[in-house]
Amino acid sequence: MKAQLRILVLVLNLGALLLLIAPAAAQTDIYRDASQPIEARIDDLLARMTLEEKIGQMTLVAEDSLDPQAVFDYFIGGVLSGGNDEPNVNTPEGWLEMVTEFQDAALDTRLGIPLIYGIDAVHGHNNVIGATIFPHNIGLGATRNAELVEQIGAATAAEMMATGIYWNYAPALPVVQDVRWGRTYESFGENTALVTELGIAYQRGLQGDPLMVLATPKHYLGDGGTTWGTSPFGASNIDRGDTQIDEAGLRELYLPPYIEAVNSGALSIMVSFSSWNGVPMHAHDYMVNEVLKGELGFMGFVVSDWQGIDLVAPDYYQAVVMSINAGVDMNMVPYEFRQFINTMNRAVENGDISLERIDDAVRRILRAKFAVGLFDRPTGDGATLDVVGSEEHRALARQAVSESLVLLKNEGALPLSADAATIFVAGNAADDIGMQSGGWTISWQGASGDITPGTTIFEAITATAGANTHVVFERLGRFDSFQDASGNPAMADYGIVVVGEEPYAEFEGDNGRLALTRGDLTTIERVRAQSDKLIIIVVSGRPLVITDQLQVADAVAAAWLPGTEGQGVADVLFGATPFTGTLPFTWMRSVDQLPFDFANLPTEGCDAPLFPYGYGLTYENSESEWLDLAETCSAG
Ligand code: GLC
Repeated sequence: MKAQLRILVLVLNLGALLLLIAPAAAQTDIYRDASQPIEARIDDLLARMTLEEKIGQMTLVAEDSLDPQAVFDYFIGGVLSGGNDEPNVNTPEGWLEMVTEFQDAALDTRLGIPLIYGIDAVHGHNNVIGATIFPHNIGLGATRNAELVEQIGAATAAEMMATGIYWNYAPALPVVQDVRWGRTYESFGENTALVTELGIAYQRGLQGDPLMVLATPKHYLGDGGTTWGTSPFGASNIDRGDTQIDEAGLRELYLPPYIEAVNSGALSIMVSFSSWNGVPMHAHDYMVNEVLKGELGFMGFVVSDWQGIDLVAPDYYQAVVMSINAGVDMNMVPYEFRQFINTMNRAVENGDISLERIDDAVRRILRAKFAVGLFDRPTGDGATLDVVGSEEHRALARQAVSESLVLLKNEGALPLSADAATIFVAGNAADDIGMQSGGWTISWQGASGDITPGTTIFEAITATAGANTHVVFERLGRFDSFQDASGNPAMADYGIVVVGEEPYAEFEGDNGRLALTRGDLTTIERVRAQSDKLIIIVVSGRPLVITDQLQVADAVAAAWLPGTEGQGVADVLFGATPFTGTLPFTWMRSVDQLPFDFANLPTEGCDAPLFPYGYGLTYENSESEWLDLAETCSAG
């Protein structure tokens, strides 16, 4: 009997012990339980977190500045790949493996809070070799096609998710007022309504429904309105400068995209390097705390830009205190994360940053992480890796390229005839994937050359030309070896010169001249001399000064930065698809006209721009008084 009793007592004690543990396990379930309301999951998790764990969530570190062990040791909440960061092997599999290693370290921490991995997939999953590279936003602006832009956002999200990345530092929402800015191509245009419509279409596509990828509308606020010469990079720069405008103007020109972004469910917003009337946006308590979080009701988190906090004040401690108290919730450190964490601890100990402020920031970060599904799907499973650079996405990009082309002039040259005997193709950007993709492609600044799989414009022309058409490429336009029967230089039916800007990003692209290169001008002259019809294609991140070349050519088209699918250019040049694009930016006659006074823009005489916002010819209508004016003004 006694033995049975002893067994019964043992079983009862074991049961009690289980009951003791069970509530703890059940209590742990709340933040891990996907069926619970997000706010309840946040409350439960926040109540469990130490200060160290909370500050870790506010810390965003570049992947080449830490290892997975540091993620575990410091409870790091975010890791990013900057424009130049990539895994040891730059393949979709290599990206998934790298991201998963960081995530596994975060999941191994005491509370297992997943980190969020961020990247600038600003025109496709553009750090990844083999990904679909879509036209940059300036080209999408020329399409005016919100449905297409939404599809591009969705395709980009699919390629990102295949590699286990659920946070995109896009869309950029600058309403660019001065095209001398190196980030003009990241903008949908100079018009607030256009930027709002297309930027939010992209955001919707990227986010998905239900929310799968975090969009990051950027850079709040007024990044596209800075004044030339106010940049910290010097008198010949504009990037990260000062936006000098009154509050009414700031709100009218730059705030609408963010109002719609918040209303469309944005849960992370990146604050701008730039300043408003001398006050850095990274420390702008009124615009971030009162307007964005208060008036607009933004419930997500504000992330700094790359070392953006450091620029706020000479003293790092003060810079951190000012920025965090102004409403920055997560610091893209991105290098010296230990210094940031130590500084935050000191600021809390000193009472310069309150625990309430910390909890508010962490609550916002957790809200985004729960909403995007990170706690329930923290990594990719590799099942969709073949979507990266898929034919379906490349076809979508090809459509976008065609719709982005803007016909500026056409006097009996286009469409190209399939019966042509000879087509000369020349120019720096004619046979170069890197040139036609621009910055933020495989590397931060981008690079000319064969940097990722795609179709160059020359390859596309060759593939589309008639079976009996001889297409010849010579980058510098030296076709004098082509001679007729009497030994004179032979004339081609068409000479196509694809001129362009070497790739650039951010301040590296600030440019006060916006001129074609000497080489491209010489190439144009050479090809002009040997072609019945001269066509100039401009591959650039913004309008360039082509006033003189407009008179020399029979046809001119803007192709912007089309990305990997150059076939979209040939489709339109041969008439398979029509020209439908219209200018997202006013095109200057000379740089002396910049910055435009849009409120008082002349519409006649040689002080008028070369082409206005919204200009674009078609195959049916190639007449325009703007061309007549250009000819008059050029004749002097
Ligand atoms: C850059 C850019 C920002 C980008 C971030 C991370 O400096 O200003 O647009 O998202 O750093 O690469």
